[in-house]
Amino acid sequence: MNVRVGILTVSDRVTRGEVEDHSGPALAELVEQRWAGAKVVASQVVPDEVEAIQAVLRRWADEERLDLVLTTGGTGFAPRDRTPEATRPLLDREAPGLVVAMLVASLRVTPHAMLSRPAAGIRGRTLIVNLPGSPKAACENLEAILPALPHGLALLREEPGASQQHRHVPPERSQE
Ligand code: MTE
Repeated sequence: MNVRVGILTVSDRVTRGEVEDHSGPALAELVEQRWAGAKVVASQVVPDEVEAIQAVLRRWADEERLDLVLTTGGTGFAPRDRTPEATRPLLDREAPGLVVAMLVASLRVTPHAMLSRPAAGIRGRTLIVNLPGSPKAACENLEAILPALPHGLALLREEPGASQQHRHVPPERSQE
């Protein structure tokens, strides 16, 4: 399946050039390595400003009609963390299962996982998922949902046979 992906890094400090964007490239590498057919066709950096975030999400979903948009950053408790607030009003339908999956997987790594407040859902035919800001956290969260994304996107696109493919995907075995 051909999947066009956009990665939006939300960070005041990256925008100002104070730090390099490591999370966007890490997510791009992970998604392209682990998902045959997925290609990152757009990436951008914006400050932690609702309008700036929404302008990119609207363009990527409504005009460029990307299949998947991953945001990284701005999901926490800091006063300027506004990515979920920018994302949620743009969603036609929320996808709370993705949020729960990320939280469950992340709580096994750190109790700080509960400080992330991501939104995830569908706008038109585009799936939008908020991920935390550090490369480690962003990649761990993406890993948690990757196994279900191909089937989710196939359903979203109404690909022939997608709804017949409700095969059992075994969860990863517990390491304990
Ligand atoms: N999730 C995973 N899997 N691993 C992590 O290290 N860090 C947490 C959390 N989620 C983390 C994680 C931390 S420390 C914070 S503050 C929140 O994500 C929010 O991050 P953000 O504000 O950069 O979006």
